[in-house]
Amino acid sequence: MGQNSPDQLQIFLDIATEAALAGGAILQKYWGKLEAVQEKGRPGDLVTEADKYAENAVLEIIKRHFPQHSILAEESGQLGDNSSEYLWAIDPLDGTTNYAHQYPFFATSIGLLINGVPKVGVVFDPFHNELFRAATGLGATRNRQPIQVSQTSSLSKSLLVTGFAYDRRETADNNYAEFCHLTHLTQGVRRSGAASVDLAHVACGRLDGYWERGLSPWDIAAGIVLVQEAGGTVTAYDRSPLVIHSGRILATNSYIHESLSDELLQISPLKV
Ligand code: IPD
Ligand code: CA
Ligand code: CA
Repeated sequence: MGQNSPDQLQIFLDIATEAALAGGAILQKYWGKLEAVQEKGRPGDLVTEADKYAENAVLEIIKRHFPQHSILAEESGQLGDNSSEYLWAIDPLDGTTNYAHQYPFFATSIGLLINGVPKVGVVFDPFHNELFRAATGLGATRNRQPIQVSQTSSLSKSLLVTGFAYDRRETADNNYAEFCHLTHLTQGVRRSGAASVDLAHVACGRLDGYWERGLSPWDIAAGIVLVQEAGGTVTAYDRSPLVIHSGRILATNSYIHESLSDELLQISPLKV
């Protein structure tokens, strides 16, 4: 069995699933029962006991199965051997603001990068009991059924989603202009507040495209694989290959990729 053979990827996918289900179970347990909601730094950037306990549950499983791998987890930072070709990007609670307000859009997101390339992704939304899974070459599923991106081929018929990073009050590059511009051209632009769920919803065809800036690898690593394996396209805003550490992503059903990219470049020509 080769190192990254389909069988090996399936093992990674199954362990990622076990970990995402464990994280999601913690989120369910603390839903509506939070006692410690704190700001991490920037106003509005929250952390709760659910983030921490869910991360511990995920880490315990990943470390137990893959002690040699490297980990980048939102609340714990970089862990393990950082020379490993395997990097687990973990967001135990994506959508913390929603969760703290009991607005039910949040997930546990677990991605595996191999030599810097996202290859395995699991997003578990415990409130809606939706488990999204994908691995390169193995397809994408929702609750174990295959999913595909939408076939919407024009921006005027599309429903998009985006988000606004916690530094939005500190920079003019805050995505407000892009949001207004695309709201005008499309059937709407949603802001759900959970990047991993946004990508999962593009993957299963509920939304036609997603763009955002100011993201971290743990927000998007899993969702990238979901969209790609469901037939979508994921790049930088200018359609060049995605650089996951750039924080900037364009993910679509493929059909509207070029036109959405062109509109984004029109707004922010220097920031791709
Ligand atoms: C946030 C969410 C949100 C996005 C922010 C992220 P968090 O993650 O994914 O949708 O707009 O940029 O930081 O803080 O809830 O894990
Ligand atoms: Ca996040
Ligand atoms: Ca988080």
